[in-house]
Amino acid sequence: MAKDTWIIANWKANKTLDEALEWVKIVGSNCLQKEDLKIAVCPSFSAIEEVKREIETKAYPLIVGAQDLSPFDNGAYTGEETAAILKQFVKLAILGHSERRENFGETDEIIAEKVKQALEYGITPLVCVQDADTLVPQGCKLIAYEPVFAIGSGNSDSPEDANRVAGIFKQKYGEDSQVLYGGSVTAENVRDFTNQENISGVLVGKASLIAEEFVRIIKA
Ligand code: PGA
Repeated sequence: MAKDTWIIANWKANKTLDEALEWVKIVGSNCLQKEDLKIAVCPSFSAIEEVKREIETKAYPLIVGAQDLSPFDNGAYTGEETAAILKQFVKLAILGHSERRENFGETDEIIAEKVKQALEYGITPLVCVQDADTLVPQGCKLIAYEPVFAIGSGNSDSPEDANRVAGIFKQKYGEDSQVLYGGSVTAENVRDFTNQENISGVLVGKASLIAEEFVRIIKA
């Protein structure tokens, strides 16, 4: 059986609304439409609604995701974006990215609460793990292995090592878990990762910001 391949753009804290919509136009009209290829974009919160509207209006084969969501349900939590609200716009959410663990003090416990919220409101949690020992909360079947040294450094992990770590996660959390690789993925190296047996796609930061480069990654 052919496996699904995920190509996910993580824009991080980048792009004004105009820049976001320009990207959607270029990627949306140039990306491949294949049943086993799942292409997603994770904009900043303020751009999510318009990005989704543009994708739906033009019927582009793109999925919209969030880069985070609240560990709390709706209520008195000033500044939070809850799964209950986000569910009208996004199908998935990146959770537990190393930048959130490092800069915002996110712990495994907080990430587990976020996963619970996502699942409760029908959003697919994509949990980022930094090494083979990182915990994956119950119910999460989409995992991104992103070793910290590889993020934004131009120094990716080797495809063989990423495949080995992905294999450990599939063993621990079930063969039905899908494990992506992230960390300095480019159009040049993407195939080396997606060709690995245990790897079901890639999470792309820096190289996803330029629309033409992201199209090259999809086509590769
Ligand atoms: P990078 O980031 O592609 O810029 O290394 C990946 C990520 O942080 O998800």
